[in-house]
Amino acid sequence: GGSEPDALAQAARLGEQAGFDEINLNLGCPSDRVQAGRFGACLMREPGLVAEGIAAMVAAVDIPVTVKTRIGVDHNDSYEELSALVDKLAIAGCRTFIIHARKAWLKGLSPKENREIPPLRYEIAHRLKQDFPNLELIVNGGITNLDAAAAQLERVDGVMIGREAYHNPWLLADVDRRFHGDETPPPERRQIIQRLLPFIESELASGVPLQRISRHILGLFQGQPGARRWRRHLSENSHKKNADTTVIVEALCYIRPGGTTTD
Ligand SMILES: Cc1cc2nc3c(=O)[nH]c(=O)nc-3n(C[C@H](O)[C@H](O)[C@H](O)COP(=O)(O)O)c2cc1C
Repeated sequence: GGSEPDALAQAARLGEQAGFDEINLNLGCPSDRVQAGRFGACLMREPGLVAEGIAAMVAAVDIPVTVKTRIGVDHNDSYEELSALVDKLAIAGCRTFIIHARKAWLKGLSPKENREIPPLRYEIAHRLKQDFPNLELIVNGGITNLDAAAAQLERVDGVMIGREAYHNPWLLADVDRRFHGDETPPPERRQIIQRLLPFIESELASGVPLQRISRHILGLFQGQPGARRWRRHLSENSHKKNADTTVIVEALCYIRPGGTTTD
């Protein structure tokens, strides 16, 4: 995030040097802290300034510079304002827009409430795709299963899944087969953990704390017998000093093949 073109260009260069595939500018975050720093959703009101930032980043790097935005802020929530913003940023060099399909209220709602209370309006993202067919339009917000994603893909180029990827990461296991023509069946949940263990070992060896990895797999057994105990074991033990893969293997014992355990 940011709004100062030179600083954005410099940050984009650092991102490219670090090996990132894309630089994404955040025009969606409504928190007080980012508003004070003049970045995030409040920038939707300053299309000219954002366009300068995009142009500076596009000139600075060879990887794509993309934007993630809400559909409006406060009372600046007309389709005309949004499409004028997209138009301006496209001219500045942004070809990909991730649209979190709800507006944000900058005062009165917490960031969490701003992800839940303003209603989802996917039709706005669909209309943008119709009006800007040459841009890549990716819709985000409230998409929690692959059927919903498939329905969106009839209207836009891509789908971004946020919270559900945490609550139920298993959801992603079938994405390659369903959307990318991969014919290999998805691995079992346990297999995913087995395959992850060597990675965890090598990260631990380089000083990464276990919790930084385990937090991403808390929801892996969501809906399966033993899921709650899996989560609890990881939550209660991963942060401990010298916690290692034993914690993961122990937690796996709570998940019974065949699903006979009650949660
Ligand atoms: C804990 C948390 C942190 C987030 N941080 C960011 C962020 O740094 N940048 C961003 O563009 N969106 C951020 N988001 C918003 C998500 O990218 C996404 O737009 C939002 O959760 C709606 O999508 P979903 O309904 O699929 O979760 C965050 C969401 C959560 C729950």
